[in-house]
Amino acid sequence: MKTMSIKVLLVSTLSILPLLANAGENVASQETLQARSLVKAFGSDLKHVLKTSMKSGGPIKALEQCNIQAGPIAVKNSSSSGWNIARTSLKVRNESNAPDEWESTTLRQFEKRKAAGEQLKTMEYSETVREGDKLVYRYMKPIPTAGLCVTCHGSDVSEEITTKVKSLYPNDQATGFKVGDIRGAFTLQKRIN
Ligand code: HEC
Repeated sequence: MKTMSIKVLLVSTLSILPLLANAGENVASQETLQARSLVKAFGSDLKHVLKTSMKSGGPIKALEQCNIQAGPIAVKNSSSSGWNIARTSLKVRNESNAPDEWESTTLRQFEKRKAAGEQLKTMEYSETVREGDKLVYRYMKPIPTAGLCVTCHGSDVSEEITTKVKSLYPNDQATGFKVGDIRGAFTLQKRIN
């Protein structure tokens, strides 16, 4: 009788173990779901400005629009959601996008994961970190370099664009990217406690 109940206990414990493991791996937290949807909205606002200004006025006009609007678009998406939303990179154009330590570690980790064959489309990283007496949920998602991006971030940028970039961003580092490279990442955070 005793051995029987132990056996039953064992079998039932073992059968729910895979479920528990699955829950940890596959079921995203509420924060992660929010972060993903904010990234989509922020990214599509940015792309909209880039594409419409490229089309109406070419790359110089688009450069000016990125310069003027990238900040306000991030602020707009942040203040309507209670999150802090931004972009960063290991090689930034705008120095105010420079990564903090957690961000540069995560960006280097993304480079390693990409080198190991992981697709950028589904790559992301999140962690809850303690900052003083606060608990902060942090999330990052890589931004791939597309064909459209190399006009201003590639290795063969026209002289006209280079001159304009240098006048707006004297310390620009954000060139030399090839299609498929990690250009940077979306970076989001929210205080949770
Ligand atoms: C018309 C020129 C132009 C094109 C095309 C362009 N960018 Fe940029 N990019 C800029 C400028 C200007 C900034 C700086 C914006 C600012 O002041 O925050 C920037 C900044 C960024 C940043 C923020 C980090 C940093 O370096 O400051 C990322 C990430 C980025 N671009 C990715 C892309 C991607 C991905 C594409 C293609 C979908 C793209 N860019 C296409 C001009 C361009």
